[in-house]
Order: sequence, then C-alpha cells, then structure tokens
Amino acid sequence: MKHSLANSLVRRPRRLRCTPAIRSLTTEVRWSLQDLIMPLFIVDSQGSPEPIKSIPGQYRYPIPHLLIQCGRLIQAGITAIALFPVIDPSLKDSFGSEALKEDNLLLRAVRQLRTAYPDLLIVTDIALDPYTSHGHDGIFDPTGQAIDNDATLKILAQMAVLQAQAGATFVAPSDMMDGRVAAIRSHLDEEGWQDIGILAYSAKFASAYYGPFREAIGSNGYDISLLKDKRTYQMNPANRREALLETQLDEAEGADILMIKPAGPYLDIIREVRERTLLPIAAYQVSGEYAQICAAAQLGWMDREQARDEALLAIKRSGADMIMTYFAGELAGLKGISKT
Ligand code: PBG
Repeated sequence: MKHSLANSLVRRPRRLRCTPAIRSLTTEVRWSLQDLIMPLFIVDSQGSPEPIKSIPGQYRYPIPHLLIQCGRLIQAGITAIALFPVIDPSLKDSFGSEALKEDNLLLRAVRQLRTAYPDLLIVTDIALDPYTSHGHDGIFDPTGQAIDNDATLKILAQMAVLQAQAGATFVAPSDMMDGRVAAIRSHLDEEGWQDIGILAYSAKFASAYYGPFREAIGSNGYDISLLKDKRTYQMNPANRREALLETQLDEAEGADILMIKPAGPYLDIIREVRERTLLPIAAYQVSGEYAQICAAAQLGWMDREQARDEALLAIKRSGADMIMTYFAGELAGLKGISKT
C-alpha cells in the first residue's frame, strides 16, 4: 500500500475544503454590504410604490416612499444609492428638456433625500434617455439621423451641475458620448463643484440585459426602428481593446471611479481594467442579470440565494470594488416595502 498512487499525492487541495472553518479561512474574496450601491426608481405620483414587472421585487417610488425606503436601507446598512427617474410621457420631448428643469422629479428627490439623510451617498445618472421622447441618451443632429455628440455634451454638463446643486455625491454619466467626462468635470469645476465626483459608466456595452430597465423607466421609445438600438454610442459587446481605451479616456478626462456595465457577461473586461488602473472600479449588475436569476428561481430551476451570492462573488473576484445591484436591499435583510 505504501507506494500506491493515493499515498504519493502530496498536494491535496481538498484538505482546504473539508470543513466550513477551513473553507472560510481560505476564502479569497468576499463582498459586503458596504460594497453595494442600490439602484432605485422614482415616479411622480401621490400613490403607492408601483411594482416593476420586469424587475421583480423592485418598485417605482413616489418621493415620500423613496424617503421611507432610503431610511430603511440606511438602517439596514446600505450606504449608497443610485437614482433613476421615471418621467411622465407628457414631459418628454426630442431634446429631453425636462432634464434641465430645476424642479424635475430627480432633482426634487435628491434635495429631499439630502436634507433627510446628510450622509447618504447619492449617485445620480447623467443621460437623456429618461427625458427624451425617442428614448435615446442624446439628442439628434439637424438631419435627424444621428445622435449629436457635442450638442449632447452641453446638456450633460448642465445636468451635472444641477444634480450637484441638488445634493448628489457622485454624478454618473451613463450616456457614452465622447468627451462627456471632460465636459462634465470642467463645468462642475467652473461652477465651484470641485468636490463632486464622477462615477463614469466607462465601458458600457450595447446590451440586451438592459431590457427590463427600459421597461421600468419607459425609455423603450415609440419608434420601433430606434427601439433598443444604442449601438452608435454604447459599445460593441465583442470589443475588449476598445473597452480599455474607453476606460483610459475616462480616467484621463478626470473620472474618479470607472464602471463596467453589464457586469456578469463582462468579467474579463473588469479584470483587465483592474490590472491597468489604480482607480476604484464599479460594476453594474444590470436589470437583465437580476431578472434572469429571479425568473429561473421562480421556475424552480435555480436556487435564488445561491445564484445571487455566486453572481456577486464572481463580480468581486473579477476585480470590482463596488457593485451596483438590485439585490442590495434584500442582501441587507429588507423584505418588500414599507406599508406606511
Ligand atoms: C441609460 C441607462 C440604462 C441603464 C442605466 N442607465 C439603460 C440603457 O442604456 O438603455 C440600465 C440599467 C439596467 O439595466 O439595470 N442611460
């Protein structure tokens, strides 16, 4: 027996897996509540929170309920939120003018949250899609055929200043126009908002995984030919080098945090960006990633908690410092919404 194959195995990795205590000691990465950013949708209404069918368990919150929900999240240990307004279709136009109205839904919500919760980290999205009648992140050029990059930048820069004034901690350009980080940084600085950070959606891919979100904010447009086609500004999912270029540009333009989005299908990109930058990296586990776990669990095909935890672990392992995820609330132990 002495010289059997079994006895000559010196390396037995299973030794480190044999008890929960050993597995715990040898765990290489963990995520914690402090790593998470909870996305929340806001709606202008006097009513109750509206469940979002395509993002099960998530709601569009009227401002009073948003305040309550944020109070619960903070109590439960969540320190950061990201806000997305659902704009009434009657307020949308082809220029997204509502985005620059000082009393728009998002800015009202941020002001009230900032007053109620001085320490809450509030991330506000900079892109025109909630506000445009066509659902694009930018405005069209005079031909009506193409998104006008530089005309859009001017609007984005003004949005940033309004959001900073309202009380945002980080502004988060999610539009993928060229040069937006530089435009936003310089306008914020001109207006005295040097301390407001930019969390840049640096490598944002044109992804089917945003489907449930577009349903939630009603940005899926009215013209079927334009529907979902953001490929002239969002990135080609095939492109790794280009993602590195986009993140380098955002860093050079002054981004404080680089975000990769979606997260799960782009872990290789997160890893590579991690190896090339000293900046913190955020990953957005988007609505479709969330919805597919919920759906499979509902069908009884996967265990919800295990799939959820594994997905988050994978995102951390790939090198993300922070994760934007619709699971944040439930991970903090919150169930449902407040009845009050
Ligand atoms: C748009 C924006 C999108 C998301 C966040 N900001 C969707 C899009 O580009 O159409 C998607 C988030 C998600 O799917 O959870 N500026």
